[in-house]
Amino acid sequence: MTQLLNGKEIAIKIKQEICEEIEKIKHQKKRLPHLGIILSGNNVESIIYVNKKIQECKNIGLSCSLVELPENSSEQKILEEIYKMNNNPFIDGFIIQLPLPQHINVDNLILSINPDKDVDGFHPENFGKMALNMNTFIPATAYGIITLLQKYKIKISGKHTVVIGRSRIVGLPISILMSIQNDFGNSTVTLTHTYTKNLFFYTKKADIIIVAVGSPGFLTGNMIKKGAILIDVGINKINQGIKTMLKGDIDFDSIFGKASYITPVPGGIGPMTIIMLIKNTIKAAYKRLYKSN
Ligand code: GUN
Repeated sequence: MTQLLNGKEIAIKIKQEICEEIEKIKHQKKRLPHLGIILSGNNVESIIYVNKKIQECKNIGLSCSLVELPENSSEQKILEEIYKMNNNPFIDGFIIQLPLPQHINVDNLILSINPDKDVDGFHPENFGKMALNMNTFIPATAYGIITLLQKYKIKISGKHTVVIGRSRIVGLPISILMSIQNDFGNSTVTLTHTYTKNLFFYTKKADIIIVAVGSPGFLTGNMIKKGAILIDVGINKINQGIKTMLKGDIDFDSIFGKASYITPVPGGIGPMTIIMLIKNTIKAAYKRLYKSN
Protein backbone atom coordinates (compact mmCIF):
# COMPACT_ATOMS: atom_id res chain seq x y z
CA MET A 1 0.00 0.00 0.00
CA THR A 2 1.28 3.43 -0.89
CA GLN A 3 0.07 6.36 1.22
CA LEU A 4 -0.01 9.90 -0.12
CA LEU A 5 1.77 12.61 1.86
CA ASN A 6 -0.85 15.30 1.40
CA GLY A 7 1.10 18.56 1.37
CA LYS A 8 -1.95 20.56 0.41
CA GLU A 9 -3.84 19.45 3.51
CA ILE A 10 -0.89 20.05 5.87
CA ALA A 11 -0.23 23.47 4.29
CA ILE A 12 -3.87 24.43 4.99
CA LYS A 13 -3.44 23.47 8.67
CA ILE A 14 -0.24 25.53 8.93
CA LYS A 15 -2.02 28.38 7.17
CA GLN A 16 -4.72 28.35 9.86
CA GLU A 17 -2.05 28.72 12.56
CA ILE A 18 -0.43 31.57 10.60
CA CYS A 19 -3.82 33.30 10.20
CA GLU A 20 -4.24 33.23 14.00
CA GLU A 21 -0.78 34.80 14.32
CA ILE A 22 -1.76 37.52 11.84
CA GLU A 23 -4.95 38.21 13.81
CA LYS A 24 -2.84 38.76 16.92
CA ILE A 25 -0.59 41.19 15.04
CA LYS A 26 -3.67 43.04 13.77
CA HIS A 27 -5.13 43.12 17.26
CA GLN A 28 -1.95 44.74 18.55
CA LYS A 29 -2.33 47.31 15.75
CA LYS A 30 1.11 46.46 14.42
CA ARG A 31 2.12 46.65 10.79
CA LEU A 32 1.52 43.43 8.85
CA PRO A 33 4.55 41.47 7.60
CA HIS A 34 5.57 42.38 4.06
CA LEU A 35 7.18 40.09 1.45
CA GLY A 36 9.01 41.55 -1.53
CA ILE A 37 9.56 39.58 -4.75
CA ILE A 38 11.93 40.40 -7.61
CA LEU A 39 11.08 38.63 -10.86
CA SER A 40 13.33 39.12 -13.87
CA GLY A 41 12.53 37.56 -17.21
CA ASN A 42 9.72 35.55 -18.75
CA ASN A 43 10.21 32.05 -17.33
CA VAL A 44 6.68 30.62 -17.40
CA GLU A 45 7.11 28.42 -14.30
CA SER A 46 8.57 31.37 -12.35
CA ILE A 47 5.58 33.54 -13.26
CA ILE A 48 3.20 30.79 -12.06
CA TYR A 49 5.13 30.31 -8.76
CA VAL A 50 5.30 34.03 -8.11
CA ASN A 51 1.58 34.46 -8.72
CA LYS A 52 0.88 31.63 -6.27
CA LYS A 53 3.12 33.24 -3.64
CA ILE A 54 1.38 36.61 -4.06
CA GLN A 55 -2.06 34.99 -3.93
CA GLU A 56 -1.24 33.12 -0.73
CA CYS A 57 0.10 36.31 0.90
CA LYS A 58 -3.19 38.00 0.04
CA ASN A 59 -5.26 35.07 1.35
CA ILE A 60 -3.41 35.14 4.66
CA GLY A 61 -3.30 38.92 5.03
CA LEU A 62 0.39 39.61 4.47
CA SER A 63 1.28 42.54 2.28
CA CYS A 64 3.40 41.83 -0.74
CA SER A 65 5.12 43.79 -3.47
CA LEU A 66 6.39 42.56 -6.81
CA VAL A 67 9.12 44.16 -8.89
CA GLU A 68 9.01 42.83 -12.44
CA LEU A 69 12.00 43.37 -14.68
CA PRO A 70 12.41 42.50 -18.36
CA GLU A 71 14.45 39.49 -19.50
CA ASN A 72 17.32 41.69 -20.73
CA SER A 73 17.71 43.64 -17.46
CA SER A 74 21.33 44.09 -16.44
CA GLU A 75 22.78 42.68 -13.24
CA GLN A 76 23.27 46.28 -12.09
CA LYS A 77 19.56 46.98 -12.53
CA ILE A 78 18.61 43.94 -10.40
CA LEU A 79 21.21 44.95 -7.79
CA GLU A 80 19.60 48.39 -7.58
CA GLU A 81 16.24 46.76 -6.84
CA ILE A 82 17.87 44.58 -4.17
CA TYR A 83 19.38 47.66 -2.50
CA LYS A 84 15.97 49.34 -2.53
CA MET A 85 14.41 46.32 -0.81
CA ASN A 86 17.30 46.10 1.68
CA ASN A 87 16.72 49.74 2.62
CA ASN A 88 12.92 49.79 2.56
CA PRO A 89 11.80 49.70 6.22
CA PHE A 90 8.37 48.37 5.22
CA ILE A 91 9.77 45.23 3.57
CA ASP A 92 10.53 42.50 6.14
CA GLY A 93 11.87 39.89 3.76
CA PHE A 94 12.28 39.39 0.02
CA ILE A 95 13.26 36.85 -2.60
CA ILE A 96 14.71 36.94 -6.09
CA GLN A 97 12.77 34.32 -8.01
CA LEU A 98 15.09 31.78 -9.63
CA PRO A 99 16.14 30.81 -12.25
CA LEU A 100 17.40 34.10 -13.67
CA PRO A 101 18.40 34.80 -17.28
CA GLN A 102 21.80 33.33 -18.26
CA HIS A 103 23.71 36.64 -18.32
CA ILE A 104 23.09 37.25 -14.59
CA ASN A 105 25.53 36.09 -11.91
CA VAL A 106 23.20 34.73 -9.22
CA ASP A 107 25.96 34.61 -6.58
CA ASN A 108 26.54 38.39 -6.85
CA LEU A 109 22.85 39.03 -6.27
CA ILE A 110 22.48 36.65 -3.34
CA LEU A 111 25.57 38.11 -1.65
CA SER A 112 24.02 41.58 -1.83
CA ILE A 113 20.80 40.63 0.03
CA ASN A 114 20.65 41.78 3.65
CA PRO A 115 20.82 38.40 5.50
CA ASP A 116 18.10 39.57 7.92
CA LYS A 117 15.71 39.92 4.96
CA ASP A 118 16.85 36.76 3.14
CA VAL A 119 13.67 34.71 3.62
CA ASP A 120 14.89 32.19 1.01
CA GLY A 121 17.82 31.38 3.29
CA PHE A 122 20.21 31.43 0.30
CA HIS A 123 22.73 34.01 1.59
CA PRO A 124 25.96 32.27 2.73
CA GLU A 125 25.47 33.66 6.25
CA ASN A 126 22.07 31.95 6.54
CA PHE A 127 23.10 28.85 4.59
CA GLY A 128 26.12 28.47 6.87
CA LYS A 129 24.00 28.91 9.98
CA MET A 130 21.61 26.25 8.69
CA ALA A 131 24.50 23.83 8.12
CA LEU A 132 25.70 24.49 11.67
CA ASN A 133 22.24 23.92 13.11
CA MET A 134 21.85 27.54 14.26
CA ASN A 135 18.61 29.51 14.23
CA THR A 136 18.09 31.00 10.74
CA PHE A 137 15.86 31.02 7.64
CA ILE A 138 15.64 27.53 6.17
CA PRO A 139 15.14 27.42 2.37
CA ALA A 140 11.40 27.01 1.87
CA THR A 141 11.30 23.77 -0.13
CA ALA A 142 13.68 21.96 2.21
CA TYR A 143 11.75 23.35 5.18
CA GLY A 144 8.53 22.09 3.57
CA ILE A 145 9.91 18.58 3.07
CA ILE A 146 11.12 18.32 6.68
CA THR A 147 7.83 19.67 8.03
CA LEU A 148 5.73 17.29 5.93
CA LEU A 149 7.75 14.27 7.11
CA GLN A 150 7.42 15.46 10.72
CA LYS A 151 3.66 16.00 10.44
CA TYR A 152 3.26 12.42 9.20
CA LYS A 153 5.54 11.27 12.06
CA ILE A 154 7.93 9.62 9.61
CA LYS A 155 11.15 8.79 11.37
CA ILE A 156 14.24 10.06 9.58
CA SER A 157 16.88 9.26 12.18
CA GLY A 158 19.11 6.35 11.18
CA LYS A 159 17.48 6.00 7.75
CA HIS A 160 19.42 6.14 4.50
CA THR A 161 18.30 9.09 2.39
CA VAL A 162 19.25 9.54 -1.24
CA VAL A 163 18.86 13.04 -2.65
CA ILE A 164 18.86 13.36 -6.44
CA GLY A 165 19.90 16.83 -7.62
CA ARG A 166 22.17 19.29 -5.82
CA SER A 167 20.63 22.71 -6.49
CA ARG A 168 20.97 25.47 -3.90
CA ILE A 169 17.15 25.66 -3.85
CA VAL A 170 16.49 22.05 -2.80
CA GLY A 171 19.12 19.31 -3.09
CA LEU A 172 21.96 20.95 -1.23
CA PRO A 173 19.97 22.33 1.73
CA ILE A 174 17.84 19.19 2.21
CA SER A 175 20.91 16.94 2.15
CA ILE A 176 22.48 19.07 4.91
CA LEU A 177 19.30 19.32 6.99
CA MET A 178 18.64 15.61 6.93
CA SER A 179 22.17 14.73 7.97
CA ILE A 180 22.74 17.19 10.85
CA GLN A 181 22.17 16.27 14.46
CA ASN A 182 18.63 17.46 15.03
CA ASP A 183 15.09 16.18 15.61
CA PHE A 184 14.55 16.22 11.85
CA GLY A 185 18.04 15.03 10.91
CA ASN A 186 20.34 12.17 11.85
CA SER A 187 19.83 10.44 8.51
CA THR A 188 22.69 8.99 6.49
CA VAL A 189 22.55 11.04 3.31
CA THR A 190 23.89 10.34 -0.16
CA LEU A 191 23.75 13.38 -2.44
CA THR A 192 23.67 12.29 -6.07
CA HIS A 193 23.91 14.41 -9.24
CA THR A 194 24.64 14.31 -12.97
CA TYR A 195 28.13 12.90 -12.42
CA THR A 196 26.95 10.06 -10.16
CA LYS A 197 27.74 6.70 -11.72
CA ASN A 198 25.15 3.94 -11.39
CA LEU A 199 22.38 5.89 -9.66
CA PHE A 200 20.39 2.62 -9.34
CA PHE A 201 23.00 1.31 -6.90
CA TYR A 202 22.08 4.08 -4.46
CA THR A 203 18.34 4.42 -5.05
CA LYS A 204 17.77 0.65 -4.75
CA LYS A 205 19.11 0.74 -1.18
CA ALA A 206 17.51 4.01 -0.05
CA ASP A 207 14.87 4.24 2.69
CA ILE A 208 13.98 7.79 1.63
CA ILE A 209 14.46 9.29 -1.85
CA ILE A 210 14.12 13.00 -2.58
CA VAL A 211 14.02 13.81 -6.28
CA ALA A 212 14.58 17.37 -7.50
CA VAL A 213 15.85 17.17 -11.06
CA GLY A 214 13.11 18.79 -13.18
CA SER A 215 12.69 15.77 -15.44
CA PRO A 216 9.21 14.23 -15.67
CA GLY A 217 9.00 10.61 -14.49
CA PHE A 218 12.77 10.41 -13.84
CA LEU A 219 12.54 7.96 -10.91
CA THR A 220 10.78 4.73 -11.84
CA GLY A 221 9.51 1.74 -9.86
CA ASN A 222 12.47 -0.49 -10.83
CA MET A 223 14.86 2.00 -9.17
CA ILE A 224 13.43 1.72 -5.65
CA LYS A 225 13.17 -0.89 -2.93
CA LYS A 226 9.82 -1.96 -1.54
CA GLY A 227 8.59 0.35 1.20
CA ALA A 228 10.72 3.35 0.19
CA ILE A 229 9.50 6.83 1.14
CA LEU A 230 9.46 9.12 -1.89
CA ILE A 231 9.51 12.91 -2.01
CA ASP A 232 8.81 14.43 -5.41
CA VAL A 233 9.94 18.03 -5.80
CA GLY A 234 9.49 18.23 -9.59
CA ILE A 235 6.68 20.25 -11.10
CA ASN A 236 6.91 19.73 -14.86
CA LYS A 237 4.42 21.04 -17.35
CA ILE A 238 3.46 18.41 -19.93
CA ASN A 239 1.45 19.09 -23.08
CA GLN A 240 -1.15 16.43 -23.77
CA GLY A 241 -2.99 17.41 -26.93
CA ILE A 242 -4.63 20.74 -26.20
CA LYS A 243 -4.35 20.19 -22.43
CA THR A 244 -1.38 20.86 -20.19
CA MET A 245 -0.89 18.84 -17.04
CA LEU A 246 1.64 18.78 -14.19
CA LYS A 247 3.92 15.78 -13.77
CA GLY A 248 6.49 15.21 -11.03
CA ASP A 249 10.02 13.81 -11.25
CA ILE A 250 8.69 10.44 -10.08
CA ASP A 251 6.83 8.06 -12.36
CA PHE A 252 3.79 7.75 -10.14
CA ASP A 253 2.21 4.72 -11.87
CA SER A 254 5.29 2.50 -11.68
CA ILE A 255 6.04 3.22 -8.01
CA PHE A 256 2.46 3.06 -6.76
CA GLY A 257 1.99 -0.03 -4.61
CA LYS A 258 5.74 -0.47 -4.13
CA ALA A 259 6.65 2.70 -2.19
CA SER A 260 5.23 3.15 1.33
CA TYR A 261 4.71 6.93 0.96
CA ILE A 262 4.81 9.42 -1.88
CA THR A 263 4.13 13.13 -2.25
CA PRO A 264 1.69 13.74 -5.12
CA VAL A 265 2.19 16.34 -7.87
CA PRO A 266 0.37 18.65 -7.64
CA GLY A 267 -0.61 18.89 -3.96
CA GLY A 268 2.60 17.64 -2.34
CA ILE A 269 5.73 19.75 -1.88
CA GLY A 270 4.46 22.77 -3.91
CA PRO A 271 1.94 24.07 -1.32
CA MET A 272 4.38 23.29 1.52
CA THR A 273 7.06 25.47 -0.12
CA ILE A 274 4.76 28.48 -0.37
CA ILE A 275 3.53 28.25 3.22
CA MET A 276 7.09 27.89 4.53
CA LEU A 277 8.17 31.02 2.64
CA ILE A 278 5.35 32.85 4.42
CA LYS A 279 6.46 31.40 7.76
CA ASN A 280 9.98 32.71 7.06
CA THR A 281 8.57 36.16 6.20
CA ILE A 282 6.71 36.30 9.51
CA LYS A 283 9.89 35.20 11.30
CA ALA A 284 11.76 38.05 9.57
CA ALA A 285 9.08 40.54 10.64
CA TYR A 286 9.20 39.33 14.25
CA LYS A 287 12.96 39.54 14.27
CA ARG A 288 13.01 43.07 12.83
CA LEU A 289 10.00 44.68 14.42
CA TYR A 290 7.74 43.12 16.90
CA LYS A 291 10.21 41.65 19.36
CA SER A 292 12.48 44.69 19.32
CA ASN A 293 9.61 47.15 19.78
N1 GUN B 1 12.51 28.94 -7.85
C1 GUN B 1 12.01 27.72 -7.53
N2 GUN B 1 11.91 27.57 -6.19
C2 GUN B 1 12.38 28.73 -5.64
C3 GUN B 1 12.54 29.18 -4.31
O1 GUN B 1 12.23 28.49 -3.32
N3 GUN B 1 13.06 30.43 -4.16
C4 GUN B 1 13.42 31.21 -5.23
N4 GUN B 1 13.93 32.42 -4.98
N5 GUN B 1 13.29 30.81 -6.50
C5 GUN B 1 12.77 29.58 -6.69
